[in-house]
Amino acid sequence: SDVVRVGLMGLGTVGCGVVRLVEEHQDDLYNQTGQRIEIRKVLVQDLDKKRPVPLEKSMLTDDPRAILEDEEIDVIVEVMGGIEPARECIRQALEKGKHVVTANKDLMALHGAELLSVAERHGCDVFYEASVAGGIPILRALVEGFSSDRITQMIGIVNGTTNYILTEMDRRGAGFEDALTQAQALGYAESDPTSDVDGLDAARKMAILATLGFHMEMPLEDVEVQGIADITTEDVQFAEQLGYRMKLVGIARSDDGKVEVSVQPALLPQNHPLSSVDGVYNAVYVHGEAVGETMFYGPGAGDMPTATAVVSDLVTVVKNMRLGINGSGIVAPYREKVLKTPRE
Ligand code: NDP
Ligand code: HSE
Repeated sequence: SDVVRVGLMGLGTVGCGVVRLVEEHQDDLYNQTGQRIEIRKVLVQDLDKKRPVPLEKSMLTDDPRAILEDEEIDVIVEVMGGIEPARECIRQALEKGKHVVTANKDLMALHGAELLSVAERHGCDVFYEASVAGGIPILRALVEGFSSDRITQMIGIVNGTTNYILTEMDRRGAGFEDALTQAQALGYAESDPTSDVDGLDAARKMAILATLGFHMEMPLEDVEVQGIADITTEDVQFAEQLGYRMKLVGIARSDDGKVEVSVQPALLPQNHPLSSVDGVYNAVYVHGEAVGETMFYGPGAGDMPTATAVVSDLVTVVKNMRLGINGSGIVAPYREKVLKTPRE
């Protein structure tokens, strides 16, 4: 068959972006893969909610089994978020031989190793490019682009919501709550935005970057985290007057096997490259021993930027299916095998 059937789990900001992108780019996707991507069923919580994408109501279900037990579905795209039921759905999908694409950093930072080993046992792909820095293909860059190098340091603005809040406070004198409400309305924030504000979302992303960049397990509980809940508009504007800019920054360093990862608000000089990363934009600075300094920049959240990462992963799964190499780790760019844990 020249059709790959997808079960979409979640139809919120990212899920709707995925539906639109698959529809709008269908011909380009077909030209690259020789396969037509068909979204066959969609899991939601509320079957009666009004949706911004024109899907037939008969495609919606509120029962994960309708997707997991459909033998014609080849790939699951998990964009529900949270740990359960996402973890159990992904595990069951893999056990049934379905490949998985997810945007879920909460899950991958905590249970990524477990899910990747289930995938390996069942010859399946799990891809999660969208889980870090939205539209920036940073995981591919780390795993494929720098496979020859030894990465020593990564510094990132990896949370769009907090960067949007800090930028609004700085440029428009917005209050914290108003700026957060705007970020939520734009679809940038997590369903519980305290994980953005308290730095946990950034910590999860830095743990994933450290795991992939340094080729070692980075337990989430070892990441030191401080968020922006205590920062006021006055703090941000005072910093600006002194020639600095307030940013929530994640830092990951590897020095001879000793790894340190942290997330904290930082005052950066205004001429620092990360100071010009505004609004929902993210950036990740990567230092490699051989390559030197590199920097990746782009939209860190939002429906269509995030959908590009999800659907690109889907394209890789479909290409792997055509080649019969799913789960082989050849084209699978970030099936990181956890080889060692950080040394103190
Ligand atoms: P939303 O809250 O907008 O959407 C979540 C969707 O999942 C909704 O359609 C909801 O159904 C459905 N859902 C949630 N829980 C269940 C459940 N238990 N059973 C069935 N359906 C469920 O989230 P986002 O689209 O913003 O985020 C999705 C994922 O993508 C998260 O992991 C997030 O961290 C990640 N992500 C988000 C980005 C963004 O910019 N928003 C960027 C990068 C990653 P219903 O609509 O009926 O309520
Ligand atoms: N809430 C996240 C952010 C979504 O604001 O960066 C993208 O991962």
